Amino acid sequence: MSNEIIDKLSSALKSAEGKLSSASSESDIESVRIELLGRNGLVPALSKDMKNVPPEQRAETGRAFNEAKEKLQKLLDEAKERLGPSSVSGAITDVTEPGRRWKIGKKHPITLVIDDCVAIFRRMGFIVAEGPEIDTVYNNFDALNTASDHPSRDPQDTFYFGDGRLLRTQTSPVQIRVMKSQEPPVRIVAPGRCFRRDTPDATHSMNFHQIEGLYIDKGVSMADLKSILLAFGREFFGPGVGIRLRPHFFPFTEPSVECDFSCVMCGGKGCRVCKNSGWLEISGAGMVDPNVMKAVGYDPEIWSGYAFGMGIERLAMIRYRINDIRLLYDNDKRFLSQFN
Ligand code: DAH
Repeated sequence: MSNEIIDKLSSALKSAEGKLSSASSESDIESVRIELLGRNGLVPALSKDMKNVPPEQRAETGRAFNEAKEKLQKLLDEAKERLGPSSVSGAITDVTEPGRRWKIGKKHPITLVIDDCVAIFRRMGFIVAEGPEIDTVYNNFDALNTASDHPSRDPQDTFYFGDGRLLRTQTSPVQIRVMKSQEPPVRIVAPGRCFRRDTPDATHSMNFHQIEGLYIDKGVSMADLKSILLAFGREFFGPGVGIRLRPHFFPFTEPSVECDFSCVMCGGKGCRVCKNSGWLEISGAGMVDPNVMKAVGYDPEIWSGYAFGMGIERLAMIRYRINDIRLLYDNDKRFLSQFN
């Protein structure tokens, strides 16, 4: 069904569509709006004629009004959008308004410590090497001269995949990867994440970080190892720090030592942090075992070297006086925002 009002609305829409598609300014658009929807515009004028529409056509005519208004508004909006924001009157940019502050994230304390350690060792001529967090049982244990019944291999302590791979329990397998991929001399540090099946508590986490060091050359001695550890300690903790080496056992070094630094809290007098000993256990270390050299094809008669491995979380907890390792993994911004 059709009537005069419906016909007029549809022809008005057509002409508006034509005008709006060629509108080149905000005022072109506005004049179309006034012509049709303004107080004295066509649409209000036509709606006054509704009373003359026969009752059976009222519903349809009313619908035509609504549709026409909706369509028209859509055409106006589209025309404005096409012209872009610069033409929209009233959208003024206040160039004097202060800029919005971006919240800049901070480095995680673990990352800060890794960055610092790497920077210190780089200054001493080490370069950074990397290995995967999933490595082979061979690289993590066998090539590192770890006896088949060594307790660290126990499935209670290590995450195995059952296909010859595991989540590395230490960064030491990076030693193997580097030595297998290049001829000596070698001077690398390898920071990274490690995994052990520990029950989480204040000092244990199932994932944690270590930084590994390896130096292979001719005539490397334990004096070199001690001097590099002392130099690191002085840079990381301050010039007053002292070190001591205690005999220990690691499968991949012989002799092996545990390296302690004098307690940075009490200066060696004895306190809660160092359990009254005056010393903090920081690093495992030793002279690379000839069996490890053989596993990677280096001749132990020609080459010698030292290796060390320290816990990043432990360094972070001492430096920042953090008393629970879990704080490092909770992802609580109130905690993390304290570190720079
Ligand atoms: N991988 C040892 C651990 O996780 C730490 C270590 C000890 C690394 C002695 C070394 C080393 O390179 O020589 O307990």
